[in-house]
Amino acid sequence: MKWSSIFLLLMLLACAKITHGQEGNQAFPDPFTFTNGKKVKTLKDWERRRGEILDIMTREMYGMAPGRPKNIRFEVFDQNKNALAGKATRKQVTIHITEKGKEAQFDLLIYIPNHAKHPVPAIIGLNFIGNQAIHADPGIKLTTAWVENSKMFPCGADGKATEACRGVNASQWAVDSILARGYALVTLYREEVASDRKAQAFQTGVHPLYPELQQREDNFGTVAAWAWALSRGMDYLETDKDIDAKRVAVFGFSRLGKSALWAGATDRRFAAVLSNESGAGGAKQFRRGMGEDINRLCTVFPHWFAGSFGKYKGRDTDLPFDQHFVLALIAPRPVYLATAEDDKNSDPQGEFATAQAADTVYRFLGTNGLPEGPFPALNQPLTGQIGFHIRPGGHDVKMFDWIQFLNFSDLHLQK
Ligand code: GCU
Repeated sequence: MKWSSIFLLLMLLACAKITHGQEGNQAFPDPFTFTNGKKVKTLKDWERRRGEILDIMTREMYGMAPGRPKNIRFEVFDQNKNALAGKATRKQVTIHITEKGKEAQFDLLIYIPNHAKHPVPAIIGLNFIGNQAIHADPGIKLTTAWVENSKMFPCGADGKATEACRGVNASQWAVDSILARGYALVTLYREEVASDRKAQAFQTGVHPLYPELQQREDNFGTVAAWAWALSRGMDYLETDKDIDAKRVAVFGFSRLGKSALWAGATDRRFAAVLSNESGAGGAKQFRRGMGEDINRLCTVFPHWFAGSFGKYKGRDTDLPFDQHFVLALIAPRPVYLATAEDDKNSDPQGEFATAQAADTVYRFLGTNGLPEGPFPALNQPLTGQIGFHIRPGGHDVKMFDWIQFLNFSDLHLQK
């Protein structure tokens, strides 16, 4: 056989292999192709396709939420104009939700900068250990919900928050900088909304109000419940004259970053989204097959997503959707993804891949999207309508992250 024929044969074999390798794989999920194969051409088409994407992500992953409750009441139980040595006005608000005779409640802690011109823009985000953990301020109500008691968060015995729990998570909340830059900070505790403990999942907080939603395959998952609570926080902010509800960014770290993204995706009242190392089920692209996978998510945290998501275990690289769909739902509103070099679980490259895949939607909607170019160097933020950075270090919220969030918010939320 001649060399040229051998070469041809090898080429044919290689092609066959590539084609075979792609067999069974889903095409890259195109935000601009309707389920029926038609293409999005106009902004009106996009609105319809957006609805389709919202349905897909709700049905296949996050689960069905109840919508805005009819019976929701805001009880402002604390108002102190001289909090944090006079820098801020502290408000604490209990949100009461009743449904068929059952009640759920959770608290908002709000700091409003006194020096800034009111109404001020705000940043709202869930916290991990209770409102009293984000700052040592003795005026913050201790949560009555369960709190963990660990070396990292020495909170008190028997899951009950004690005075020892004040400020234990303060390093991740740049309260002074947020206020100094003219933003109100609004926070609420995940465990008051929906328990994150496997055995208690769906038993506490808001889930018992909606038993019918738990019967469904696309049940109201805990990440979605936390996102829904952020929207209820927004319901309150719309009534507060000190806050400009049109300029509220939703923030979250890690599992709570997953919720922040989903809140931004489902509730267009959020003017911007700040996601810190949200990782798998947040901004990480699954189809790269790196970092935490769907099997781990659904096994270790079975309550986070709807039961329907379980069918995708082991199918990360072969999903009919991916996380750029969540960013596409947020578009054209600004979204910032903060990542960290050693946070391999969250796969920073995978978060960047999601930003790149969502860029076309942001550009189609008339924004500058993600700045062009390769994966950025450490500490070199990219700032377009989509923002991104990677910093050294591990899974955490650092001052560097907050400074970028505030710079990004200044661009988009300050008048
Ligand atoms: C775990 C989980 C992540 C999550 C993180 C967190 O590491 O695997 O998906 O983001 O907890 O919430 O801190």
